[in-house]
Amino acid sequence: MPATCVVGLQWGDEAKGKIVDLLTEQFDIVVRYQGGANAGHTVVFGGEKFKLSLIPSGIFRPDVQCVIAGGVVINPATLIAEIDHLTGRGIRVERNLMISDRAHVIFPWHVEEDRLLDRQCSAGENIGTTMRGIGPCYRDKVGRSLAVRLGDLYRDRFREQIEQILDAKNQLFAALAGSEWTKLDAGAVYDEYRSYAERLRPHVADTTAYLLSAVEADDRILFEGAQGALLDIDHGTFPFVTSSNSSGVGVSPGAGVPARYLTKVLGIVKAYCTRVGGGPFPTEQDNEIGQLIRDRGNEYGTVTRRPRRCGWFDAVAARYTARLSGADSLAVMLLDVLSTFPELKICTAYEIDGRRTTDFPSHVDDLRRAVPLYETMPGWQAEITGARSPGELPQAAREYLARIAQLVGRPVELVSVGPDRQQTIRMA
Ligand code: IMP
Repeated sequence: MPATCVVGLQWGDEAKGKIVDLLTEQFDIVVRYQGGANAGHTVVFGGEKFKLSLIPSGIFRPDVQCVIAGGVVINPATLIAEIDHLTGRGIRVERNLMISDRAHVIFPWHVEEDRLLDRQCSAGENIGTTMRGIGPCYRDKVGRSLAVRLGDLYRDRFREQIEQILDAKNQLFAALAGSEWTKLDAGAVYDEYRSYAERLRPHVADTTAYLLSAVEADDRILFEGAQGALLDIDHGTFPFVTSSNSSGVGVSPGAGVPARYLTKVLGIVKAYCTRVGGGPFPTEQDNEIGQLIRDRGNEYGTVTRRPRRCGWFDAVAARYTARLSGADSLAVMLLDVLSTFPELKICTAYEIDGRRTTDFPSHVDDLRRAVPLYETMPGWQAEITGARSPGELPQAAREYLARIAQLVGRPVELVSVGPDRQQTIRMA
């Protein structure tokens, strides 16, 4: 499949990193196309655990070209720290990492804006951002006049650009934070970012041109989605979403590649659901069931270490996001986490104001009132982490997967029963 996309179909943290890492050997190029260091991808390589937030998970294979495309927002300090960390652990990061000169740059004021605005937030419930300045950076990108792209860091006008932006930002923050705000100095920010620019220079390129040539040449490209489709800025549970198109529809604007070149979409789901931050979550189990899932699945944020909210598999939501993302098939992750339960629930429909529906509501207030209607299935209560083929899974586990496939309307292609590459079952 020349151009494949791996995309999360829930609220992020679906263990996409493992699948991307597994698939990269079949690809020449791996591309991150949206989001920023709010994403946290865990990859187990050579028995060691690596946490990536900006660099594509293909970096562990030296012959794969990794691309951070223009739709990503970049905190250069974080990116450099990630490069240094990988290099220090023996992973080569040289010309095999390419970064778009169109990518927008995160500055200290973006992180500050995240902190100041999130605490004032919407309808009594915070979005609960990752505080990485992602939303404010995208906001400036759309606003245009206060935005800086990576390519700008190498231009003569950069110093003047910083001065103009800081004039506006210092006034804005003085109004928002009063005496709490210490004015940022344009000279210091300029010097800091110029030194980042020099470190990143060998990697910076016009990735749009590169990727267009690659798709036209039928190169094998893997697009690595960050977060999950329910956090998509346009199609997710707005406003409790991230600031980019984190569903499958984001590949095209983020990478600059026409959608017609995408030949396969693999939708990633957990065998249950999790969510970090605020917003409605119909199948949430804020009880001992949720706690058991959290403990067994180590459901704490990769980036922020926040405990994740946990609940049963929501087939209404997954069906919606599988359709939205154009998923051809599913990878069901962390199935082993459910092995302890005598019975399992799957949400097959919602009841909203007395009306049963299998459509995912477009307004968050309707989703908030949605009562999940469950189907109960027998659990398997057996160790499955050693299973390597469908036949080695207990009958109840196979039935659980088959029911998910039926409800979501997509076949299950892969199943993960543990963090290691080997702990993966190909279903067909
Ligand atoms: P932001 O992307 O930092 O602005 O956060 C907006 C919302 O998206 C918050 O609820 C975050 O918890 C959530 N979020 C952002 N990135 C991720 C991720 O990689 N995994 C899970 N949730 C995320």
